[in-house]
Amino acid sequence: MNKTSLFTLFSPLLLLFSSSVAADPDMLQDLCVADLASATKVNGYTCKPASEINITDFSFMGIAKPGSTNTTMGSLVTGANVEKIPGLNTLGVSMARIDFAPGGLNPPHTHPRATEMIFVLEGTLDVGFITTANKLFMKTITKGEVFVFPKGLVHFQKNNGNEPASLISAFNSQLPGTQSLGATLFGSSPAVPDNVLTKAFQIGTKEVEKIKGRFAPKK
Ligand SMILES: *[C@@H]1O[C@H](CO)[C@@H](O)[C@H](O)[C@H]1NC(C)=O
Ligand SMILES: *[C@@H]1O[C@H](CO)[C@@H](O)[C@H](O)[C@H]1NC(C)=O
Repeated sequence: MNKTSLFTLFSPLLLLFSSSVAADPDMLQDLCVADLASATKVNGYTCKPASEINITDFSFMGIAKPGSTNTTMGSLVTGANVEKIPGLNTLGVSMARIDFAPGGLNPPHTHPRATEMIFVLEGTLDVGFITTANKLFMKTITKGEVFVFPKGLVHFQKNNGNEPASLISAFNSQLPGTQSLGATLFGSSPAVPDNVLTKAFQIGTKEVEKIKGRFAPKK
């Protein structure tokens, strides 16, 4: 067997290995409870001394109840990630709760580090994601239903019902990260130059400035 055919044989395996290291890395010990106050930055958080770990590092009541959806978008995301639950550090999973007023939108965004699964607690939601081939996969989901947003793809959730809606999200990252397209492009600091946005969106400076105005002051 020559080198080329060996490579052909093993290249699917290589692909498999390279994709399996693209998620949060595996832990090398039972516990590495985040020391959120530490000035030392690693890939994740440094571990607290074992003597300082207690049961409160592993629990959180922050997603038990609906949050206020009196926001610009009529939705509120509450994370249950390593920033709230230090015990999640190095474990590669987290959750969130999202509440929606009638008409509320969780605007198009991506999570660079995680696939997301959602479970509808209450109400009905129109949800969708868009692939890199610009194909939209969209569905109306209802109480009890599960839906998947593949890692890194742009997605959204909209409550088109007349009642509030809520869902629980699960992520395969301790801190999935969120980039909301509108805020990222029109609300960054320093600002993305107007001439980048006029050319990218094929619109005039006036329109760019108008959209920037909507994203400028953070609440
Ligand atoms: C756990 O430790 C924190 C400080 O790190 C302390 O505030 C809290 O009271 C402790 N809780 C229990 C149940 O020991
Ligand atoms: C919603 O928020 C606005 C601005 O923050 C405030 O003026 C208004 O009273 C709030 N409404 C409710 C029902 O809390």
